[in-house]
Amino acid sequence: AVDFRPPGFENNDQKPIGYGRMLRKEDARFIRGKGRYVDDVRLPGMLHLAILRSPLAHARIVRIDTSAAEAHPKVKAVVTGAMLAERGLAWMPTLAGDVQAVLATDKVRFQGQEVAFVVAEDRYAARDALELIDVEYEPLDPVIDVRRALAPDAPVIRTDLEGKTDNHIFDWETGDAEETERAFASADVVVSQDIVYPRVHPAPLETCGAVADYDRVSGKLTLWSTTQAPHAHRTLYALVAGLPEHKIRVIAPDIGGGFGGKVPIYPGYVCAIVGSMLTGRPVKWVEDRSENLISTGFARDYIMRGEIAATRDGKILAIRTHVLADHGAFNAQAAPSKYPAGFFGVFTGSYDLQAAYAKVTAVYTNKAPGGVAYACSFRITEAVYLVERIVDRLADELGMDPVELRLKNLLKPEQFPYKTKTGWVYDSGNYEPTLRKAMEIAGYHELRKEQAERRARGELMGIGVSFFTEAVGAGPRKHMDILGLGMNDGCELRVHPTGKAVLRLSVQTQGQGHETTFAQIVAEELGIPPDDIEVVHGDTDQTPFGLGTYGSRSTPVSGAAAALVARRIRDKAKIIASGMLEVSVADLEWRKGAFHVKGDPTRAVTIQDIAMRAHGAGDLPEGLEGGLDAQICYNPENLTYPHGAYICVVDIDPGTAKVKVRRFVAVDDCGTRINPMIIEGQVHGGLADGVGMALMEMIAFDEDGNCLGASFMDYLLPTALEVPDWETGYTVTPSPHHPIGAKGIGESATVGSPPAIVNAVVDALKPFGIRHVDMPLTPSRVWEAMQGRPQPP
Ligand code: CDP
Repeated sequence: AVDFRPPGFENNDQKPIGYGRMLRKEDARFIRGKGRYVDDVRLPGMLHLAILRSPLAHARIVRIDTSAAEAHPKVKAVVTGAMLAERGLAWMPTLAGDVQAVLATDKVRFQGQEVAFVVAEDRYAARDALELIDVEYEPLDPVIDVRRALAPDAPVIRTDLEGKTDNHIFDWETGDAEETERAFASADVVVSQDIVYPRVHPAPLETCGAVADYDRVSGKLTLWSTTQAPHAHRTLYALVAGLPEHKIRVIAPDIGGGFGGKVPIYPGYVCAIVGSMLTGRPVKWVEDRSENLISTGFARDYIMRGEIAATRDGKILAIRTHVLADHGAFNAQAAPSKYPAGFFGVFTGSYDLQAAYAKVTAVYTNKAPGGVAYACSFRITEAVYLVERIVDRLADELGMDPVELRLKNLLKPEQFPYKTKTGWVYDSGNYEPTLRKAMEIAGYHELRKEQAERRARGELMGIGVSFFTEAVGAGPRKHMDILGLGMNDGCELRVHPTGKAVLRLSVQTQGQGHETTFAQIVAEELGIPPDDIEVVHGDTDQTPFGLGTYGSRSTPVSGAAAALVARRIRDKAKIIASGMLEVSVADLEWRKGAFHVKGDPTRAVTIQDIAMRAHGAGDLPEGLEGGLDAQICYNPENLTYPHGAYICVVDIDPGTAKVKVRRFVAVDDCGTRINPMIIEGQVHGGLADGVGMALMEMIAFDEDGNCLGASFMDYLLPTALEVPDWETGYTVTPSPHHPIGAKGIGESATVGSPPAIVNAVVDALKPFGIRHVDMPLTPSRVWEAMQGRPQPP
C-alpha cells in the first residue's frame, strides 16, 4: 500500500487529516519578511490619497473651500461629497442594505467621518493639503447615549432617509414570547441581569488600504485591497459604480489580520477608485492607526437584559432577553440578509430549554458604523456572553456549583441533531466529555479547595467556567445571502501532468494558514503531498466566485468544497485507472494515493501515474475527456456547530483591584482536526483576544461624541504580559454533513473566553456580595465595584 504520510506522521495520536501538524507553508515568506501586503504594492506613477475627516460627531456642512489645497504644487485632485454626488457616487450601500456616505454631503454623522479627499504626488503632500481644506460646520446636538436615541426629543441623525423622524432601525424577535412567559410563570427561581457588551474594535495589525489602478485604454480596474471578501466586493463595485464586472480585478494580497473588520467596503476603497479614474494614474490609500480605530467597523455594542428561569433544583426552563443595539450612524452591520441581529438566535446556548425569546432593537447614534463580526459568527459572541453570564448568575442564586448546574442542563448526545427553541439545528455534539476534560486539566475540585483556603486568608481568587456552542459556516443558500449574493463557495482543482496540483479557492486567508490546511485536505483525498499542491486565493481573476472568509466559514464551506472537488477528480481518476490496469472500475479500491486491483496488491497506479496518463498520449476509456481538472460551487446543507468548555482562574490584588489571569484551560471540539498546530494557534490568538475584551478593550466616547479610544495608548490590547500560558485540550465530534467532518475553529476562543474570565472575576469578588461587573474589567472598574461594600473577612 502507498502511505503518503511522511515518517513520524503515521501514528499521530491526534488523528489529523493528511500531514497533521505540518508547519505552515506561508511561514517561509512571513518569517523572511517577504509577505506582500497592500502597502507593499508600488506602481509606476502611483499617487497617494489622504482623507479629511470630521472633527465633530454631528454637524451640518455649511461650506467647503478646497481652493488652497488645489493650489498646492503637488496636489493632483481634491474631491468633496458634492463632486461625488454629481456622479451619483456620494452614497454607497452597506452590507446591511442601508446606505452610507462615501463623502459627507449634507451632514457629518460621526467623528472621523470622511468629508473630502486629496490625491497628491506623495503621502506627505496629501496629508499637508488636507490642512488647507476649509470646512465650515454648524454643530448639531449629537446622540451618543444609545438609551437616549429613541427619546422623542432626540435629534434625528438620518435626515437623508426620506420620512425618517426617529433613530430607530429595526426590531427583531425570535422564539416564542408567550411560551416563554408561561415557563417563567411556572419557575421557582427567576434571575435577571443587565449586561453590557461594550463597543470593541478588531484592531488588526495592518490597517485598511487600497491601491486602485484604472486603465483608461482597456477600461480595466485593478484594485489591491485589504478585503476578506474579494469576489463579493467586486460584484458590489460593479453594481454600484456601473463598471462591467469582468473589467474589475480585486486582489487581496497578504492581509495582516482581518477579524471581520475587513469585510465591509469602506469609503477609502471607493475614494481610491475615484481618484485613479480622475487622474488616470494608480492611487494608493492606506489609513493610519487612528483612522482605523475611529472609522472602520466596530464590533458588539449590545446592551442586554438577560432573564433566566429555573426550578429550585437547577433545571433551566427558559431564557429571555431584550437587547438595545447601537449600530452607529449607518447600519453597516455585516450579517446575512435574513438575520438583522446576526446569529444572536443561538443565545439559548448549549442547554435543553422549554422556551426562549429574544427581542433586539437597533438604533442609530452619532458613532462610527460597523457591527462587524469581530472574530465571531455574526453576534454569536454577544449571545454566548449573555447566556454564560446569566447561567452563572443562576448558579449563584441557587447556591449551586456553576459546573454542576451546567452538567445538569447540557444537551445530551442522543438529542442531536438538536433543534433549538429559536429554530437552529445543532448538527452534532457530545458536551459532557468536553466539560469533564476541561475540569480534569484544570484540576477543578482542587482549585475550589484552594479557593476556599485563600478566601479564608482574605485573598481574592476566582474560578470561571463557560460552555459554548457556536454556529459557523454561513451558509446554506436557502437561508443565507449577503446583499442578495448566496453564501456558497467555489473551488477549482487542476492536477498537472506530473501530478502536481493547483487548488483555487474563493476564500481569502488573513493569517489562518489556508495555504497549508487546504493543501492538507486535498492531500488526504488524493494522496498528492501538500507541498505539491499550490493554493491560490485572493484574486478574482484567478479564482472562482465565493463569499469570502469571516465567521469561521472557510473550513465549513470552502473546506468541504476542497474535499468534494478532490473527490470529483478521484472519480475520474478511477475510470482512467481501470483503463490502465485493464480491470473494471468495480474491481478497483482506493487506498491513500493509489488505485489497487482488489485482491492483487502488486497491481496499482498512483494518482501521479494517472495524471500523466490523463494528459499523455494514447486512448482514454471511452467517453472520457483528457485532463484532470474539476470545479464545484458548494452549497452547505447546514452550519457546523463547534463547542467548547473553558475554565479560567484569576487572582485580584485587593489593594489595586488589578486582575491577573493565572490559568486558562480551553478544551475545544471542532470536529475533525485538519492541522492541530494551526488549530492551537487559532485558539491561542482567540484567547488573547478574549483577555483583551474582558479586561482592557473598549471604544468609548465623551458626551460630545469624541472617540476616546483613537490610539493604542487608549485602546489597550493584550500583550504577552497580560496572558497566561494557555492550557488546551480537545475532543472530536465530527460534523455529520461536512464531507470530512470538520467544523470551524477560528473564532471559538474569542467567543468562549470572555464569559469564563468575567465569571472568574465575579467569582473572586463574591465575598463582597458583587454579582456582576461589566467589561472591560479594568482595575478602576473592579476597584469601584468593591467600594462601599462590606469587606470580606
Ligand atoms: O474562516 P477561517 O479560516 O477564519 O476559520 P476556520 O475555517 O475555522 O479555519 C481557521 C484555520 O484552522 C484554517 O487554516 C483551517 O483550515 C484550520 N482548521 C483546522 O485545521 N481544522 C478544523 N477542524 C477547523 C479549522
